[in-house]
Amino acid sequence: MRRYSRIAGTGSYLPPRRLTNADLAAELATKGVETSDEWIVERTGIRARHFAAPDVGSSDLALKACQRALEAAGLEASQIDLIIVATSTPDMVFPSTACILQHKLGNAGAAAFDVQAVCSGFVYALTVADAMIQTGAAQRALVVGAEVFSRLLDFTDRTTCVLFGDGAGAVVLEASDEPGILASDLHADGKHVGILCVPGHVSGGQVLGDPLLKMDGQAVFKLAVGVLEDAARATLAKAGKTDADIDWLIPHQANIRIMQSTARKLKLPLDKVVVTVDQHGNTSAASIPLALDSAVRAGQVKRGQHLMLEGVGGGFTWGAVFLRY
Ligand code: ACO
Repeated sequence: MRRYSRIAGTGSYLPPRRLTNADLAAELATKGVETSDEWIVERTGIRARHFAAPDVGSSDLALKACQRALEAAGLEASQIDLIIVATSTPDMVFPSTACILQHKLGNAGAAAFDVQAVCSGFVYALTVADAMIQTGAAQRALVVGAEVFSRLLDFTDRTTCVLFGDGAGAVVLEASDEPGILASDLHADGKHVGILCVPGHVSGGQVLGDPLLKMDGQAVFKLAVGVLEDAARATLAKAGKTDADIDWLIPHQANIRIMQSTARKLKLPLDKVVVTVDQHGNTSAASIPLALDSAVRAGQVKRGQHLMLEGVGGGFTWGAVFLRY
């Protein structure tokens, strides 16, 4: 009998400080940067985002998301034997945010490590956890996306600072005879490093290079639309399924226009796409598990339905996971 990994519970957390586009525009105006609710909504679909307080790290947001996921699964932190955190905004250079989270959760002994695949991080982490559960290397995993992306934003660059937000989402994944994750498909192409990056690094006690986010928005847009369709189709083919088997598309929440375009290519009506970008902005690796948890708690996503999770981001990285919830 095949051993699957199955989502036993979901959780998410947004920091309390919420900025509407109007709030952000007013803050940016004090720096001489001009933007408007109208421009942001029309080009991106974003209406609001949450920013964490300066003393709050990715592990703090992850902790709350994990506690909610564990509660939903009816499990204690001590029952987890694998913790994977997808993040591009770790608390420290090292140790991993997963180790810091593990201690805050009160777990000792589970394998714990971070995955760095930017906005594709959650589908990468989910695929790794699924593989470890399928082989018997793990029984119960916490798979988390957590970000404080606001720390990387250049608030004098209106082409990027209006797009992102902070938050965390988590799932408990456990071994099961019932499906479960059915297939996944991951890719990267490092020749596109320069179109979306934070090029700075730490060296000799200083930050060398620019530690703020740089993006060629149009290049990212074009690449994202193509690879998201490819990843979804490849994943469906591996699972022996078709477009018609998708009950919900839960894509990375970067921009409503990218999501609409992907849905069109997959012949899915928009009411089968989970959309949270309007309220969360782009929370990078946190966006898919945040969207999943919102849809589960809103009663949209139900047990037995088939979900297509899809991510795309800096690297360039992309991938998809098709699963029975
Ligand atoms: N407010 C007002 N005006 C703005 C703003 C702003 N925040 N930002 C840019 N503009 C102006 C520009 O200066 C430009 O003005 P000009 O014509 O006078 O020169 C005009 O708006 C158009 O700018 P473009 O960059 O051409 O706008 P575009 O339609 O390409 O939209 C956007 C930009 C939203 C970034 C788009 O390219 C996009 O969605 N790209 C995808 C990138 C993305 O989603 N990245 C998220 C991270 S990647 C990921 O998660 C996969």
